[in-house]
Amino acid sequence: MRNIIRKNRSLLNCLLLFTLLSGCFLIIVSVPAYKYNKPIGYEEVDDEILEFDEEFFWGAATASYQVEGGNIYSNWWRFEQEEGNIKNGDTTEVAVDHYDKYREDIDLMEEMGLNSYRFSIEWSRIEPEKDIFDYNEIEHYRDVIDYLNEKDIEPMVTLWHHSLPIWFEDQGGWEKENSIEDYLNYVEYVVSNLDDEVEFWITMNEPMAYITCGYISSKWPPAKKEYIKIPKLVSNISNAHKQAYGVIHNLDPDAQVGLAEHSSYVVPYHEKNVIENIAAYAIDKTWVHYLINQVHEELDFIGVHYYYKQSIDISLAKDVLTKSPQEIENQSLDRSYYPQGLFEVLMRFKDYNIPIYITEIGVPDYHEIDRDQFIREHAVQVYYANKSGADVRGFYYWSLLDCFEWTEGYDAKFGLISVDMETQERTVKGESWEYADIAKCNCVENY
Ligand code: BGC
Repeated sequence: MRNIIRKNRSLLNCLLLFTLLSGCFLIIVSVPAYKYNKPIGYEEVDDEILEFDEEFFWGAATASYQVEGGNIYSNWWRFEQEEGNIKNGDTTEVAVDHYDKYREDIDLMEEMGLNSYRFSIEWSRIEPEKDIFDYNEIEHYRDVIDYLNEKDIEPMVTLWHHSLPIWFEDQGGWEKENSIEDYLNYVEYVVSNLDDEVEFWITMNEPMAYITCGYISSKWPPAKKEYIKIPKLVSNISNAHKQAYGVIHNLDPDAQVGLAEHSSYVVPYHEKNVIENIAAYAIDKTWVHYLINQVHEELDFIGVHYYYKQSIDISLAKDVLTKSPQEIENQSLDRSYYPQGLFEVLMRFKDYNIPIYITEIGVPDYHEIDRDQFIREHAVQVYYANKSGADVRGFYYWSLLDCFEWTEGYDAKFGLISVDMETQERTVKGESWEYADIAKCNCVENY
């Protein structure tokens, strides 16, 4: 009897200790979480017009695979050949033919008063087979860059934007240590051939999105579900960036080298909920900031992407057991238009003390909000972020053209310019002229 009482008492003690420790843990973690999640906000100014720094870039962005057409050596090309992978069976055989029509597109940018263009170089064009480089493709990109420089539009060049050469994926992609050396060979080849004309380089676009979609939700190539590989991928990719930073600076000490990362304004759905506060904090610190933290000493600037606010609603956590990551992503994250979120996100990035370029921000046609209002309201937030100490030097609307939106095909139209898919005729969308006005006056109306 005594033994049973003793046993129960020690079980009770264990339970008490566990509850006490969990309580302490929650209190300890929730303090920084609440602090972090609390909106910073700003005091509004009365000025009717908000002006930006003279050197500010008002630009637009694209990525090679989404606009060029005919990138047959890319892993995405192979992926899109498999039935069911891309909505409506869309393909990039021609895409929006930016490869041939880049002059026309740059002319339209000039007409809109944009002073910078962020675009990417297609690795699979430059190096269609391992160690076989195609100089003709370098010449193509040199022509694009020459034409931009002729028009006084500053090129900002991304070296890897989601699409990878087939040979690279087949040898294990970023999972393998030798991926770093292969990537550096490519970077060195491109930069040594183009560094006389380009100052701004982005080594990679949204590596965490690549990892999430390629290895967790498995909706992008290599379409794996191998969570276990995430630490290795993050480590190889961040080391690749760090070393690429060195390679580029060795070739051109004056180069500005950055990395572009996806961000959203991650917040708890219920402001006071402890678990949601901790979860939102943890998600922001890992998916948005972990990689940047690894590489921030090798960054001359940070490319920040902002599209929406993501509210974390823990009442949906039970679905983890029954639904796919994709279903959970679609349903549990309340993604909404929220310009003030851009201000808050920029204040989070401000703490790195590195110049910031918003290298992507945009909205598709079917959204609740008109594009001109979307752009104006977000530009106002950039003004306030700068006034509050952030060093934001550019705003690149995503995207210049309606284009191939990965698995969504051509349905999601983010462009400033629409493209007739039959004739490839370009038309600047009516509301894009408001962005043109902002770019031309380097200012935004404050209402
Ligand atoms: C990607 C683009 C994509 C855009 C809109 C960004 O995260 O870098 O390639 O088209 O989002 O979804």
